[in-house]
Amino acid sequence: MCGIVGYVGKQKAGPILLDGLKRLEYRGYDSAGLAIHQRKGLTCVKKTGPVINLFKETEKCELSGKLGISHTRWATHGGVTTENAHPHVSSDGLFAIAHNGVIENYQSIKRFLLGNGYTFASETDSEVLVNLISYHYRKETCDTDKRFFESVRKTLMHVEGTYGIAVVCVDYPQEMVGARLGSPLIVGIGEEEYLLASDVSAIISRTQNVVYLKDNEVVSITPKNFTISTINRESVDPIVDQVDWAIEESELGIHSHFMEKEIFEQPVSLENSMRGRFSDDGSTANFGGLNLSSQEWRGVDRILFCGCGTAWHACLTAEYLIERFARVPVEVEYASEFRYRNAPLDKNTLFFAVSQSGETIDTLAALREAKRKGFRTLAITNGVGSTIAREADGGIYQHAGPEIGVASTKAFTSQILLSAMVALYLGRLRDMSYTDGCAFAKALKQVPELVARTLEQNEKIKDIAGRYAGYEDMLFLGRQSMFPIALEGALKLKEISYIHAEGYPAAEMKHGPIALISDKCPSVFLAPKCETFHKIVSNIQEIKARTGKVIVVTSEGAEFPADLADDIITVPDAHEALQPILFTIPVQLLSYYIAVERGCNVDKPRNLAKSVTVE
Ligand code: AGP
Ligand code: GLU
Repeated sequence: MCGIVGYVGKQKAGPILLDGLKRLEYRGYDSAGLAIHQRKGLTCVKKTGPVINLFKETEKCELSGKLGISHTRWATHGGVTTENAHPHVSSDGLFAIAHNGVIENYQSIKRFLLGNGYTFASETDSEVLVNLISYHYRKETCDTDKRFFESVRKTLMHVEGTYGIAVVCVDYPQEMVGARLGSPLIVGIGEEEYLLASDVSAIISRTQNVVYLKDNEVVSITPKNFTISTINRESVDPIVDQVDWAIEESELGIHSHFMEKEIFEQPVSLENSMRGRFSDDGSTANFGGLNLSSQEWRGVDRILFCGCGTAWHACLTAEYLIERFARVPVEVEYASEFRYRNAPLDKNTLFFAVSQSGETIDTLAALREAKRKGFRTLAITNGVGSTIAREADGGIYQHAGPEIGVASTKAFTSQILLSAMVALYLGRLRDMSYTDGCAFAKALKQVPELVARTLEQNEKIKDIAGRYAGYEDMLFLGRQSMFPIALEGALKLKEISYIHAEGYPAAEMKHGPIALISDKCPSVFLAPKCETFHKIVSNIQEIKARTGKVIVVTSEGAEFPADLADDIITVPDAHEALQPILFTIPVQLLSYYIAVERGCNVDKPRNLAKSVTVE
């Protein structure tokens, strides 16, 4: 999913829309465009490539209008071309629309519209929306001041799929209409101006007062006011939220990339994730929004974690932590798999969604499936007010600050830390002693400082990265709670450097992947001081015996044989259960520096989007 920005107010819309699109740039996209209401009608400008291409194109136009919409596209239907870029204009020139999402029944709508004389300029699914709005507009007989809004509302009644939309109409120079189903959309409330956006970061420079639209809500916005109703005409009283971070947090500052910034923010983001969440006696964690009584927690027989990508890796670390400290069986499923699997689950199963954005459609669908089956649902998310946050029965906000880089970093370590705190909380409701609780809580509080010390090795890791940037394959290997970190390291490397990388349990290597080992396929081993340390050393010897290069990440005191690996990165000693957080830092830095060395677009990797709200 990509981005939408709309504006209506006293300023020229053009610069505000372009600034908003620029702030959405981190989400990755393939084209951008804007449509502005001007005296002579709608002026629509679209370009493939980065926002700067659109900016240059708009410099050739006179854009004086104070009402407009804009869009960054992540193509789902139709190639990356100027014609397929949004906004799309209806064939009668009356309407323009920016759409995030997928219209699943667009072919049947397109056939209907073609039969009614409409023409199409693009291959996209989105274009059917703007022509269908025009169709309803022609047939609408209600009062003039409602005709535009009603045409949009009636159109959406016929749509299957997902949408976040912003629409303008030539006949309504003071009104913008927005709506959402499955793709996020926010109303920004400014000084005698209003904005629409798919992400707070696009409008935070103009206001921190926002209203998060819910599914099936439609909003009419003028320079003076906005009104929200449901698609079934029920009026909605808006709840105005205050954005809990400032614009500076979503800006690059001194860093070269948002990913670099967010890797180095982790001591702070981890501190913020923990802030105010320990009990007065120091023996357990406290969360405000879990909405489950202690007795209900004790009645939980199983916990099912669901997520996608990096969030799924965080779910895997949660399994180790909660099973170890709370002795509650945990299952982990890809959200996209769970939603269709119809798994036979114990009725006392607690469903936990993990999602940085809180908008990932597969995770949202899994949450809805769990709710449909009657399970209690919780969420760990960084997206305040996000759809997943609002639809879960309760949950934990990460407070890690905005994560702009497409590759998730600080959100991941925050999710591991919060999973550890949930394990502590649940453990102390069951068999964990006061003393053990205090010891683990103390270990948790030390994590930010230990992460800061690990980050101090960045120059050494940058040097190592320079020597591995030329490879096209790489294995990441770890045992037990390091296995999810091996998976995460492989995902980071493949998604930003395009090197083919795979993560495996280290012992699994000899059951096939070792066939890949040669001097052209190096391995990264995660070898903390733990009960399986010597087994990992043996695995490394098996690799070295087959001319494979080895980078080892180990911990102080593990006494790794200095002559065994080609490169060794040593992280500070930490509580064994929290070592996955520390071991994540070197694999994040390694992938970052390799990608930079390869000249890759680190913050906007090809084909990826920051928040995937298409299926
Ligand atoms: C991770 O670096 C990727 N950007 C991707 O796998 C991401 O973790 C996944 O899309 C889930 O996103 P979410 O946490 O916002 O739900
Ligand atoms: N499905 C639409 C298209 O392919 C919108 C994609 C998006 O969300 O950016 O143009």
